[in-house]
Amino acid sequence: MKIALASDHGALELKAAVQKHLEDRGIEATDIGTFTEDSTDYPFWGQKCGQVVASGDHDLGIVLCGSGIGISIAANKVKGIRCALVTSEELAFLAKNHNNANIIALGGRTTEIEDAILYVDKWLDTEFDGGPRHVKRIGMLNNM
Ligand code: RB5
Repeated sequence: MKIALASDHGALELKAAVQKHLEDRGIEATDIGTFTEDSTDYPFWGQKCGQVVASGDHDLGIVLCGSGIGISIAANKVKGIRCALVTSEELAFLAKNHNNANIIALGGRTTEIEDAILYVDKWLDTEFDGGPRHVKRIGMLNNM
């Protein structure tokens, strides 16, 4: 499995910790930027992550900014992307089980590293429900 990671300057530490955790799990985790603390625009990075997931180049993505809000909005602008801002284990579960989110967003200034890792693991280790009501609704999202 290949996971793309992207962030603005507001989440570099959390992104590095999540990348290390994924690699410790044996998952290929590619940081596609940003790479410095220079102020940068989260829409660019959210779109870039959305594009590499929507194209199939990466299976899943994790986007991060200070709050996780802006970059989640940006990722969701890319057709085929279902990005969920995750702030609890319950939301991490639902993001996969109900919405089959192919990207999750995390807040570098709002989420502790230990919590973020729990959320990432819950999302990765949860199966999509796959039932007709969820498949139908995801189809509606894809058609927007
Ligand atoms: C950048 O200062 C900050 O606005 C950004 O990281 C994010 O929180 C936006 O939603």
